[in-house]
Amino acid sequence: MTLARAHTNIALIKYWGKRDAALILPYTSSISLTLADFYTDTAVTFDPALDADAFTLDGTVRPTTMVTPFLDLVRARAGRHAFARVTSVNHVPTAAGLASSASAYAALALAASRAAGLRLSPRELSQLARRGSGSASRSIFGGLAIWHRGTDDATSFAEPLPAPNLKLAMVVVLVSAAAKTRSSRSLMANTVATSPYYPAWVAHNQAAVEEMLAAIDAADFAAIGHLTEQSAMQMHAAIMAGDPAFTYFEPETLVAWQAVQALREAGVPAYATMDAGPNVKVLTVQDAVPQVLAALEPQFAGRLLTTTPGPAATILED
Ligand code: PMV
Repeated sequence: MTLARAHTNIALIKYWGKRDAALILPYTSSISLTLADFYTDTAVTFDPALDADAFTLDGTVRPTTMVTPFLDLVRARAGRHAFARVTSVNHVPTAAGLASSASAYAALALAASRAAGLRLSPRELSQLARRGSGSASRSIFGGLAIWHRGTDDATSFAEPLPAPNLKLAMVVVLVSAAAKTRSSRSLMANTVATSPYYPAWVAHNQAAVEEMLAAIDAADFAAIGHLTEQSAMQMHAAIMAGDPAFTYFEPETLVAWQAVQALREAGVPAYATMDAGPNVKVLTVQDAVPQVLAALEPQFAGRLLTTTPGPAATILED
């Protein structure tokens, strides 16, 4: 039995849209922050006595379609045939736009490859995790990471970025902890196929990757935050303009977004981002967390989670 832990990540420069759906090659590179407080623990045992894979998530038996195609990649690579027992526990509100697929497939990539006898480098693990879910490629690493879009399986992987001299923090505003209404996978494909804004998104977002690298290098928090908000809003604009039109925004999403704008006008360094769900994540610095919490408390008491940069994926038991 091998037990691995991987932390989730939130993209500052988003990934939205696959150029190759089978290999999960994205149209643009992306940059993320791995978080300390949200993670998935996954145990994998390859057992010749099993006659099928078995998967439980948070104590409930779940369809093996969520793990078997991924385990097949590991089995093929390791030359193994045994089925596996996979037990995952999510320390992330599942499917609420907190990117639990990122920590899930990063933990599965590490635990399954190791249990199958493979010893993959971080880059190889990132490539493997990418095949489960694109954002998982970045959760192999702690802190800030860039996923290079690449042109094929070998060149599309994430790697860590040097930490800027900034004490980053993130406040998650739980607008809703309910399971998301549309999976990112199907909506992403629909945006690529039908949104007239998609080509503009690709051009701008890829340029933003370069600008973000420069901002991180300069430890320029205002530029990092500004680019973070732009990437999120541009992604959501492209989503909304698809056919059929759709949005993850809920009324309270805008309440949170406006509270962040007001904070900034009052001189507090805070910027909003949002993924495939209605929750808002506020990128800030550790010294400003009390002010961010105070501004959001009136509307979101009991629904605010504060976190900081988290570590790379690790083996807990082997
Ligand atoms: O990796 P997926 O298929 O869950 O897609 C993640 C998409 C976003 O979270 C919205 C953006 C990102 O880069 O993580």
